[in-house]
Amino acid sequence: MRQAGRYLPEYQAVRKRAGGFLPMIDDPPTAAEITLQPVRRFDVDAAILFSDILVPLRAMGLELRVDDGRGPWFPRPLTGPTDIRALRLAAPAESMPEVGQALRLVRAGLPPGKALIGFAGAPFTLASYAIEGGSSPSHSKLRRLMYREPALYAELMDKLATVVGWHLQYQVECGADAVVLFDTWAGALTREDYLQHVVPWSRKALQPVSGLAPRLAFVRDGSHLLDDVVSLGVEGVALDWRTDIADAFARHGGRVALQGNLDPAALLASPEEVARRTRALLDAVGGRPGHVLALGHGVLKETDPECVAAFVQCAKERAPAGTAR
Ligand code: CP3
Repeated sequence: MRQAGRYLPEYQAVRKRAGGFLPMIDDPPTAAEITLQPVRRFDVDAAILFSDILVPLRAMGLELRVDDGRGPWFPRPLTGPTDIRALRLAAPAESMPEVGQALRLVRAGLPPGKALIGFAGAPFTLASYAIEGGSSPSHSKLRRLMYREPALYAELMDKLATVVGWHLQYQVECGADAVVLFDTWAGALTREDYLQHVVPWSRKALQPVSGLAPRLAFVRDGSHLLDDVVSLGVEGVALDWRTDIADAFARHGGRVALQGNLDPAALLASPEEVARRTRALLDAVGGRPGHVLALGHGVLKETDPECVAAFVQCAKERAPAGTAR
């Protein structure tokens, strides 16, 4: 999750040359270069494709803008059935060929033994961006649609789930070893609403890669939904930093791999403190199998790269002998 990004001077240099975020994503050699930057600098075990969860919405016909200081937004969000019906369902190889090209370039540049991770936004989170027009604290327009016009909500979610499933499958075909489904906003829901209005569509989105590659699911602020996220049938769950990882292992360690979950803001402390907290996290996991050490969300742009290095160094010191690294 934002392993590459604005905290890295080499990212800033490329961004300046490219003239913005979308031009970097849209140029496969540039996207591949950005993807490889953290692998080169930190020697992490996996690269995550440099792209964004909002790229498939653009491929469906929604104009996407990314402005400095504002982040990504859609100037003409979906307002009703006509807009929803106009969303295009196009095969990713035609509508997002730059994603496949970037993955192939990354694979070619990645040292042997390093994993390549693809990803997509889950239907609920994409629906929120498409309807609200940007990051929304309450998701009111989407929630209103969900409760008052369930058939239209289902029509939208079904289209999104179809495209997300194709997108994940396309990434695996182009060289991704594993995929992550990011449901950034689903943590705003109660369990009841999550089970009724989100789970069927997340399952549908994950289905095309079942058996093809390990699938991880992430729900930001989703501790209360953990049992239900595990029940999606994924091979792994990425935990947000507020979830107690020892408790998650006790409840689900036998069934799924668990990824996480250092607080990204902990990397704002000194490298010594980062190391102390990382060791404490590893102690809490206690060497149980199926742990993927990672942050519990993306690296903040104010982070000193030395602190990311301290985190990675701890992982290398503690990796049990003989594990595939
Ligand atoms: O981790 C990586 O290096 C891979 C690339 C990646 C990005 N976004 C690049 C990015 C991934 C996996 C994402 C996922 C993503 N994008 C999510 C899901 C994960 C999460 O964060 O919960 C969401 C919700 C988005 C939508 C999005 N894109 C937002 C809200 C923002 C603004 C962020 C901010 O801090 O202002 C982005 C822009 C974005 N996506 C950046 C990067 C590196 C910053 C772009 C820049 O200005 O240079």
